[in-house]
Amino acid sequence: MTSENQPKAGHRGIPISTEFREFMASGWATDDRAPAPRAEVADHAARRRAAVSERFPGERLVIPGGGLKVRSNDTDYTFRPHTAFAHLSGLGAHAEPDSVLVLDPSPEGGHHAVLYFRPPAPRDTEEFYIDSRYGEFWVGSRRTIADVESELGLTARHIDELPADLAKDEAAARLRVVRSADPRLAELVDTTRVQAGTSLTVEEQEEADEELACHLSGMRIVKDEWEVGEMRTAIAATHKGFEAIIATLPEAVRKGRGERWVEGIFGLYARHEGNGVGYESICASGDHANTIHWTRNTGEVREGDLILVDAGIEIDSLFTADITRTLPVTGRFTDVQRKIYDAVHEAQQAGLAAVKPGNRFSDIHAAANEVVARHLHEWGLLPEGVTLEQTLDPENGGWHRRWMVHGTSHHLGMDVHDCQLLLREEYMDGELRPGMILTVEPGLYFKADDLLAPEEFRGIGVRIEDDVLVTEDGCENLSAAMPSASYEVEEWIARVSDPAANR
Ligand code: GLY
Ligand code: MN
Ligand code: MN
Repeated sequence: MTSENQPKAGHRGIPISTEFREFMASGWATDDRAPAPRAEVADHAARRRAAVSERFPGERLVIPGGGLKVRSNDTDYTFRPHTAFAHLSGLGAHAEPDSVLVLDPSPEGGHHAVLYFRPPAPRDTEEFYIDSRYGEFWVGSRRTIADVESELGLTARHIDELPADLAKDEAAARLRVVRSADPRLAELVDTTRVQAGTSLTVEEQEEADEELACHLSGMRIVKDEWEVGEMRTAIAATHKGFEAIIATLPEAVRKGRGERWVEGIFGLYARHEGNGVGYESICASGDHANTIHWTRNTGEVREGDLILVDAGIEIDSLFTADITRTLPVTGRFTDVQRKIYDAVHEAQQAGLAAVKPGNRFSDIHAAANEVVARHLHEWGLLPEGVTLEQTLDPENGGWHRRWMVHGTSHHLGMDVHDCQLLLREEYMDGELRPGMILTVEPGLYFKADDLLAPEEFRGIGVRIEDDVLVTEDGCENLSAAMPSASYEVEEWIARVSDPAANR
């Protein structure tokens, strides 16, 4: 199905007669719905905007939600708003494409928040029944200006008013925009600034924009209580998704192309429990577990193998979990699988113990890495004569990293890799503070063709990933309800796969 105002193939346009136009415009009930009630998130979003306002006094800030992306010809990918927009507006999964939040400096100080978007077209317009991207006939009911104002407690305006409003006074020369969120808006802001006679060079304008984007990314680093609650919800949903995977493992083996089956089962829970997956699920059985970001998921799930599943459910507020469990497909680890698994688990425990206020973010990796390196050294995998101290030397060592090339941790929240625009001194070298949420995810990967690994290790890959809240005196493992020690994983699989025990 396509509508007639989409890019036309020429032969598909159906002429619209006056009779049809008039007929379509008539016979619709009056919309007398009350505006949407105020959303719980509205106060949180207002508080976040107030913090941004303090940091950029007198400047007009443009935070686009982004637009639809064509998937194929006249169909689009599912829309997900830019995270900075979602965070500051409060609109998550159900944001309208092409929305823009503007923080407009007020003469009396502070900023006034205005949300520009395309409200639904009235029923006597062609847009209503012909426009397959925006018309309610095609995409379902959409928020009105009154809905947005009542739901979010800010001013809402038609998107067509945005260009004039950006240019309306001397603040037009002091615009900043989150460029990556929507290139069309970046272009509009560039033109508006130049026309308003900005004194900044192009490079300086882009630097100013970058500073805004970095600030908005970094301001999410400490989560408040409401945000921690959202993370708990995302993690609980993900827990259910993993249990559904465990229950389906025998079927995944039987059906063939089992990794896709596992991906599909998790995706079903992600869509049902939340908005969807927070990132492409990694369902990596056997040697595929040794490909760090194996998202093709084309392989078999075989009895006797381990399957590494790295997946997270994003809920409607866009907070997402990011959890990895490596599961023995038939429910029991072999001795060699357990040996590797237990080493990774020990590294993870060391990483978790390093999550406490006062420690640096990089201390988590250092702690987990030390355990990984020690095991590799004891197993005789490091080159002849290389000591543990030498391999752990960050300047000249690093041989052990062949088997765990990634970092142990990252911040987690509305983006799976949250706060990515922070500088090194604020992220890697930054101090851990209560309210931060991060992952702890060491691994060991022995590729099937790795001739430096003992033959019995080849084709085994293990990662264990939990989502952790920094507390006043340490941390809380938010995903601790999902077993992770090898013997607990075996019990978990036995319990979840036995329907009688679940009754
Ligand atoms: N799933 C990507 C990661 O764990 O960072
Ligand atoms: Mn992950
Ligand atoms: Mn992760």
